[in-house]
Amino acid sequence: MVRSGEKVLSNVVFSQIATHQPYGGVVPELASREHLRAIVPVVRKALSEAGQTYESVDAIAVTQGPGLAGALLVGLSYAKALAYALEKPLIAVNHLEGHIHAVLLEERQKGNHEVNFPVLALVVSGGHTHLYLAEQKGEIWSYENVGHTRDDAAGEAFDKVAKLLGLGYPGGPVIDRLSAHGDPKAVRFAISQIKHPDRKTRGQAEDGRARFDFSYSGIKTAVLRYVETHSMASAIEGRRKALAAIAKPKLEDYLALCEPETRNLVASFQRAMVEDLVEKTLAAADYFNAATLFVTGGVAANNELRIRFEEAAAQQGLPVFFPSRPLSTDNAAMIAAAAYPKWLVKEFAPMDFSAEANLPLRKV
Ligand code: KG4
Ligand code: ZN
Repeated sequence: MVRSGEKVLSNVVFSQIATHQPYGGVVPELASREHLRAIVPVVRKALSEAGQTYESVDAIAVTQGPGLAGALLVGLSYAKALAYALEKPLIAVNHLEGHIHAVLLEERQKGNHEVNFPVLALVVSGGHTHLYLAEQKGEIWSYENVGHTRDDAAGEAFDKVAKLLGLGYPGGPVIDRLSAHGDPKAVRFAISQIKHPDRKTRGQAEDGRARFDFSYSGIKTAVLRYVETHSMASAIEGRRKALAAIAKPKLEDYLALCEPETRNLVASFQRAMVEDLVEKTLAAADYFNAATLFVTGGVAANNELRIRFEEAAAQQGLPVFFPSRPLSTDNAAMIAAAAYPKWLVKEFAPMDFSAEANLPLRKV
């Protein structure tokens, strides 16, 4: 629950990580079932933690997409039922817009209400590595996509690399912590391994402006090659089994199970990912004369990513903002925050609107 787009009254997160962990990634069927199981108690808890009732809320915000269709449908059906029964307005929000507004929510909570436009926002998560140029028209925000990944999202690369090294799911947080104990210069990933087909010409939009696209499936293959050429398979299998036997592995467990070669590989992978994200994003900021940079989404929780972005943006004289870690990964408060400008202009959703698994974030 969020008040006026600037104060989190409660933010209940029902984590499904334990459900999907044995499969090494999200299983869509299980995700829908878990949503169905959790939605009523989660909303009840959010109300009680905020000291509110169903009747005292002003409006109900819900994610329309993008995301897994089954999970979206659960949220949408429940939100519609609530709005109908309580006679409250319903506000449809794009998940990516939610990630962007998590940054604003964070800043407003700190008392900072100033934002200089245009804002360049990097949304970097398990499903997206997207760059948006954002403007404000009255209360309403308008977004133009100026770059995205051609294949894997950055978070997906973290997850796949962790999986292939026997480190479990999700990969980002483990790689983040392990990297601090490895040498990021040990393994060189050639820049050609993080390429996209027209990297030499840099992509171009129809209007002739540059595009800033990413590609992270090559680096995952490079890690796989390294594992093969360095005969790491049996050590990985041993680690996978040992970690599966520990209910909640701690950093010490990971360290005990990762010899220097693996730690160095992980640290080098993370360094390559971070450098590419920072370099492309800052090049786009420069090209579009961005006044402010937002970095958000699950991967924005990464320590090295934050430090590198702060250093590089400072050199370019560009203010950079991140959400706090709990607001970086998926959460409901960001959806309520993104709904607030729509509430102000009464942009309400009709009762018959539907979920869109590939909903784009558009210019208005
Ligand atoms: O935004 P999010 O919670 O869900 C999506 O919308 O995808 O992002 C989840 C992704 C996962 O791929 C996860 O491995 C990654 O964010 N992630 C991280 C970190 N924490 C989560 N990646 C790198 N470093 C982290 N500390
Ligand atoms: Zn997300």
